[in-house]
This record gives sequence, C-alpha cells and structure tokens, in this order.
Amino acid sequence: MSRWDPDNLPSQAGKTVVVTGAGRGVGYFVSEQLAASGARVIMTTRDARQRDAAAAAICAEVPAADLEFVTLDLASLASIRDAANQLRALGPIDVLINNAGKTSGSSRRELTADGLEVMVGTNAYGPFALTALLFPALSQRARVVSLGSMATRLTKADIADLQQESGSYSVSKAYAYSKHGMHAFAFELDRRLRAAGSGVQSLLAHPGFALDGSAPRRAGVTDRNSAGRRLLERALRPMAHGKNRGAWPVVRAAIDPDAAGGEFYGPSRSVTGPPVLVSAVPQSAAASFGAEFWRLAEDSTALKFDIPAS
Ligand SMILES: NC(=O)c1ccc[n+]([C@@H]2O[C@H](COP(=O)([O-])OP(=O)(O)OC[C@H]3O[C@@H](n4cnc5c(N)ncnc54)[C@H](OP(=O)(O)O)[C@@H]3O)[C@@H](O)[C@H]2O)c1
Repeated sequence: MSRWDPDNLPSQAGKTVVVTGAGRGVGYFVSEQLAASGARVIMTTRDARQRDAAAAAICAEVPAADLEFVTLDLASLASIRDAANQLRALGPIDVLINNAGKTSGSSRRELTADGLEVMVGTNAYGPFALTALLFPALSQRARVVSLGSMATRLTKADIADLQQESGSYSVSKAYAYSKHGMHAFAFELDRRLRAAGSGVQSLLAHPGFALDGSAPRRAGVTDRNSAGRRLLERALRPMAHGKNRGAWPVVRAAIDPDAAGGEFYGPSRSVTGPPVLVSAVPQSAAASFGAEFWRLAEDSTALKFDIPAS
C-alpha cells in the first residue's frame, strides 16, 4: 500500500463529491479538505444558517472552492427524495460520502417522519435510501464512503430488533445499532457491486474519537458548542483529536487511488493518528448480517438498489 499524506492530497480537479452533514463536524472538514484538493463539493445541510456559516468558513480557507448546496434531512424519506432529485441534476457524482449522523438523542424512543426509530432511521436507513436513489447518478468508477464507528466494538447488535421495538430503550444502544447498520450497508453494498462486476466501490471509514474543540477554529462551525460541552471536551482532549483529523480516514477512503471496495479506514491508534486500513467487528461485516440488514432497509424505505450487471 502507498504512503498517504493527509496534508498533501492528490488533485481532485474535475471530480464531484457529495458530503452529507457538511455544515459542521467531520463533514465540514471533509468538505474543506476535498475543496482544497480541487474537487467540486456538494454540501448537504439541514439548516440554512449552518450552510451559510460553513460556506463562509470554507471560502475563507479555500478562496477558489467550488461549492454547491442541497438541503437534506435524513430523518425524512420525502426530504431524501427531494435532495436526491437535486443531486442527480448536479451529477455525475464521483464520490458520495454518507457522513451525516445523529450522534446524540433523547433517552425516550423517538421516531423519524416515517415512523422509524430515529437513530437507525437517520443513520442507517436514511443513507441506504439516499444511496439507492443516487445510484443511477454515480459515475462508472464512483466511490460510496459510509461512516462507521468503534461503538460497534462496545455493543453487539440485535438484528432481529434493530429498532428496539421490544424491551427497554437505550439511546447508546440505538446509536451502536445504527452504526452496525452502516457497517452492514457498506460491506453488503461492496459484495453486491463485486457480484455485478460494477466499477463502483463501497468503503467504510471512522474518525476515531474526534472533537470540535481540538480542531482549528472555524467561525460558526467549530465554536457552536455549549459552555458545558466545551468543558467536557477540554477534559477529553488528551484521548482525542480534532474533527479536522477525524476527517482524514474519510478523505483517504474517498480518494486514495490505492484504496479498494470493502476496505475500512480509521486512525492508526484507534482513536487518534494518521489514517490507515483497520478491521471491522466480525458481526456486522458478516454476509448473513449484511443480507438481513439489506432486507430490513428495503422494507423500511420501500426502495431497492438497481445495480446493473456489467
Ligand atoms: N466524532 C466522533 O468521534 C465520531 C466517532 C465515530 C463515528 N462518528 C461518525 O462520524 C459522522 C460525523 O460525526 P461528527 O462528530 O461530525 O458529528 P456531529 O458533529 O454531531 O455532526 C453530525 C452531522 O450530521 C448532521 N445530521 C444530524 N442529523 C441529521 C439528519 N437528520 N439529516 C441530515 N443531517 C443530519 C448534522 O447536521 P446539523 O448541523 O443539521 O445537526 C451534522 O452536520 C457521524 O456519522 C458519526 O456517527 C463520529
């Protein structure tokens, strides 16, 4: 495998990249780094003020940035359909980065607009739906990069009750289940693409433990946390890195010419460090888990992938 320098990216001039959840966090820095490498970056956000702050911050760092914006709420299939229509019109898409994710939530079980458990609905079924709808707009050698998490190491998923419809609800379990869903999605999509002989690749990446407070300041983007959250982040700093570095494995999975479908990139020291190949927990990497996740996602979204055999 080639050496990879996250501070010296190969030129992406002529490429179109879609980054979901691009208004803040890891998604913002993925967008900034890819814009600096010359890609046209289509940033999806939920909120116009957040979009404007992120756009201003990128343009301050990368005056020649080529940016487009689309509104997307992954907790609504109607919003996903609207966004997909707009994104298709801006294609062909060379890289789709399924970064957006609900990272905290209520201790009560809540639902998306379509009645799905909100973490799994937003973080797993939402990206499944978006990718299915965008599949026809992907270029022939496109990459789909999905965001996994080490939370999958701490909690096993119950694939028979991914939305926690029975028993007592736990939001941390819901988050871990949603990330098992993303792992299953990325690996099952890779298996299906290979089986069809497709040139499209599906990869997984995780940011390690990444904080806003350890990242370089970007006005309106990294400085939005409450005083309590800032205090917590200060205490956590020794074991974490900034979201700018959390973006590194995502960017590597997206554009390293030596990366391949089915690979998983993360920080070298698990939570921090330069981006390297890592391994996923066996549970959600298993073909049987992936096939069951795919069936559940199709049922929950009423969408199917159309992967033409080549
Ligand atoms: N940071 C870490 O240590 C870490 C570790 C492992 C995995 N991850 C994963 O990495 C990704 C980015 O994490 P992060 O730290 O950047 O999280 P973050 O700071 O909480 O940002 C989450 C992003 O997702 C967007 N989002 C949330 N709900 C959404 C919805 N319903 N529809 C569309 N967008 C939505 C947010 O947009 P708004 O501004 O509109 O809320 C925001 O842009 C997530 O998938 C997360 O699970 C992060």
